[in-house]
Amino acid sequence: MTSLLVIGAGRMAEAIISGLVAEEKNIFSSITVSNVSNKDRLSRLKRTYGVHVTQDAISEVASHDVILLAAPPDAHNYLLEQLKEVIDHQLILTVAAGIDPAYIEARLNTRTPVAWIMPNTAASIGESMSTFTCGEYVENHHRTIINYILSSIGESEELSAEKVHDLTAVTGSAPAFLYAFALGLEEAAVNYGVSRKQARKLVTHMLKGSVSMLEHNGEPQQLMDQVASPGGSTAKGLEVLNEQGFMSMLKDAVKATNNHARTHNQ
Ligand SMILES: NC(=O)c1ccc[n+]([C@@H]2O[C@H](COP(=O)([O-])OP(=O)(O)OC[C@H]3O[C@@H](n4cnc5c(N)ncnc54)[C@H](OP(=O)(O)O)[C@@H]3O)[C@@H](O)[C@H]2O)c1
Repeated sequence: MTSLLVIGAGRMAEAIISGLVAEEKNIFSSITVSNVSNKDRLSRLKRTYGVHVTQDAISEVASHDVILLAAPPDAHNYLLEQLKEVIDHQLILTVAAGIDPAYIEARLNTRTPVAWIMPNTAASIGESMSTFTCGEYVENHHRTIINYILSSIGESEELSAEKVHDLTAVTGSAPAFLYAFALGLEEAAVNYGVSRKQARKLVTHMLKGSVSMLEHNGEPQQLMDQVASPGGSTAKGLEVLNEQGFMSMLKDAVKATNNHARTHNQ
């Protein structure tokens, strides 16, 4: 059996742990989670998910097979300096924005198997769209573990490290863009006099139906055309979005996110 040590106990760590413990056949014989300061949070994770907790992750490394780094990107350099002294055969995974396998390999002993997973918070309900990339020393038995973690939190796509950098915004951060979109529509609905609860229902189900249409019927442009007959009311709304540069705003948001994430990879 395999044991997992998660370093970092924040939102992403919890999202992944909740996905893992929900699996019927958990391949991990034990899961240990650590942070630096927030003891209450560790106690809650212990109660909720039955995991072991510690505030001294480094002394736990030797007794674990898989180390998942779920700490902020700028904590990685220091963490890897400490890990370098104690790792032996372990598989090292990170979910940090901008921290690719080459960054980790360069800071650890040679031949360390490393993978970079870019999930999103829907991991907590098993619906993450995750991208991932493997380092040079990942072998088939490591892939089994990586695929197990990925499938317990949703869908995944293996890409080159470059592409994971390029798509960090689209899969990791864009949920926040979508929630901003949902909030904007909710505000509009509330301004027309419905309750917040009604607005939430209207917007959520509209989004759900639209996502199903995308899944079943494909082309976004074709689906847009179905809603917006020429000269009609929806076309007027789309005209405003176009005038205000909606598409280029999205591209700029993606670029800004990725550029910022890449600053961690130095
Ligand atoms: N949130 C997302 O949607 C998302 C999506 C994709 C990837 N990620 C990546 O996931 C990672 C964690 O993000 P998050 O949203 O979960 O952040 P978070 O909620 O702020 O949690 C960060 C966690 O890291 C711990 N930590 C901080 N410095 C540490 C150190 N030096 N050693 C060990 N643990 C340390 C913190 O412990 P204390 O609380 O005790 O300080 C906290 O438990 C980031 O690298 C981020 O890029 C996040």
